[in-house]
Amino acid sequence: MAIRKITEYPDAVLAELGKPVETFDDDLKTLCEDMFATMYNAEGVGLAAPQIGLNLRLFVMDCDGIKLIAANPEIVESEGEQSGQEGCLSVGKVPAVVSRPLKAKLKAQNENGEWFEMEAEGYAARAFMHETDHCNGKLFIDHLPKMRRDMVVKRFQKEKRWK
Ligand code: NI
Repeated sequence: MAIRKITEYPDAVLAELGKPVETFDDDLKTLCEDMFATMYNAEGVGLAAPQIGLNLRLFVMDCDGIKLIAANPEIVESEGEQSGQEGCLSVGKVPAVVSRPLKAKLKAQNENGEWFEMEAEGYAARAFMHETDHCNGKLFIDHLPKMRRDMVVKRFQKEKRWK
């Protein structure tokens, strides 16, 4: 198990459409273990493969009692609305309020390639959507109006300089 370096905005890989996971072998399981280790080390609740520099449709999460590996994730249903603070390990965890659906149904494959569906509400639904977005080259700041997006980016860059 190894902790990987987290890719940060504006790295190009974060804006790319991820490639499908096609091979469900031991290498994938090791990669997922590394992703969990990297996520826990950074005190995050979700981590997608582009965040460690891999252009792949894969994420791990451990959020609100839901711990899972999702390969080739899709949000197949969503409903309602919630507004809440969100942050991202690739944007220095600078928080911003993002509106998203309240409930979401995730369809994905586990580390063995078996398809599953899972429904969640609130914080966990937010994680499903945030991480699936990563696999589509989209960041949470892409949901913000330009001025608020610029504010998050500026704060992130400023904090980064002080580290
Ligand atoms: Ni993120």
